[in-house]
Amino acid sequence: GPTVHVASEVFPFSRTGGLADVLGALPAAQAAAGQPTVVVTPWYQGLEDAAQVQLVETLTVEGVGAVRLGHERRGGVDYLFLGLADFDRPGLYHADDVRRFSRFGCAVVPVLQSLGVQPRLLHGHDWHSGLVVAHAQLSGWPTVFTVHNLQYQGRWPLYEAAEWMALPGWALGPDGVEFHGEANLLKSGLMFADRVTTVSPTYAQEITTPEYGEGLEGVLQRLEREGRLHGILNGLDLERWNPRRDAYVMNYSGLRGKSGNRRRLRAEFGFDRAPILGTVSRLADQKGMDLLLRALPELVGSWNVVILGGGDPVLEAAFAGWGYHPRVAFKGGLDEALAHRIYAGADMFAMPSRFEPCGLSQMIALRYGTLPLVRETGGLVDTVPSSIGFTFGEATSEALLSSANEALATRADRAEWERRVREGMALDFSWDASARAYAALYADVLAGRG
Ligand code: GLC
Repeated sequence: GPTVHVASEVFPFSRTGGLADVLGALPAAQAAAGQPTVVVTPWYQGLEDAAQVQLVETLTVEGVGAVRLGHERRGGVDYLFLGLADFDRPGLYHADDVRRFSRFGCAVVPVLQSLGVQPRLLHGHDWHSGLVVAHAQLSGWPTVFTVHNLQYQGRWPLYEAAEWMALPGWALGPDGVEFHGEANLLKSGLMFADRVTTVSPTYAQEITTPEYGEGLEGVLQRLEREGRLHGILNGLDLERWNPRRDAYVMNYSGLRGKSGNRRRLRAEFGFDRAPILGTVSRLADQKGMDLLLRALPELVGSWNVVILGGGDPVLEAAFAGWGYHPRVAFKGGLDEALAHRIYAGADMFAMPSRFEPCGLSQMIALRYGTLPLVRETGGLVDTVPSSIGFTFGEATSEALLSSANEALATRADRAEWERRVREGMALDFSWDASARAYAALYADVLAGRG
């Protein structure tokens, strides 16, 4: 049978962040390696306008109701879209997500069964698929659960959520989804999966500590003791992020080609000749954008700064308030084309994350010859060599600034800067290594079950 991935967002069909990018790349890498691969995800409203999704049939699932089933095959992967009534509205996420994804979580296994799909292994991602993993495990299927973000857990008062989850009584207790009196769908994934992974080795260590464990460190420590917690670094979609062929930028393969893109970015925002520090990021506490904001008054003394990202309205308003400054440009929300222009045109890329399970932007930046300025945490530690990027330890604007100043000093040494850019562009972030690591893990799970 196939490997079946389950996730709430999948590039190019739906996306708010890096989770979608992983689901847009890992399954294709696995299919290319010869493993039949299926991805199951909700059918959000309007998705059919962006894709060639075919309505296969409408099923009736006990306890859930009517489920429209859509299908599209792309790059050797079968994508299945489950159209539940609760998902037929604009946007991906809403206040009643625990109920919506509980229904989704009850629908996935019966839908696969009615299609005659017997997965070799079911691989769930983040809290939205935590209940799917429980039902898959209870049906005897081998399971893996990957944490892309521990902060979002899908919590709800247990007495109410219990009615949505169709679980046996014991599975609603502390050995199952219950956590401090609440239903916690992320914990469901952690408890029921044969193995748990997160998206970098450093983050896999960090989450067993109270500082990064988001309250679940006890559960994670136990998984680690039992040898069931693993860190597998994400790769990068090298087709989508390729400065040689990127349709949004002036194509280049080395340092020289980059300067045309810098000139264009400078012209686009009316910047002067000072170097450009860029970022493309969700504006969330996790990403440490408040540190960047607090560093701006000093940063603009030496840098032009361009920020693209949406999220926290307070941060959005604060960055927008800098719009008058000739050395600051801010654009709220998502803008795929501008994102590419920033990666290609900036000199340095800032990621002052408080925590970062893996992070993809720093890898893109390196590939585009833009040196990362990152906090030493999670996947940033595992992907940004200190001989290439600039790093700092404390989550403070002072630490960020002193690292930016170090970069400025390094920039004065042109040969050294160019060496860093060249070596960064040559780093290998392909999915092959990760796909191999997952294949080995799957084999381990299957062997363990005899
Ligand atoms: C989440 C994490 C990010 C990771 C991505 C894909 O967005 O915050 O660090 O790269 O998932 O795994």
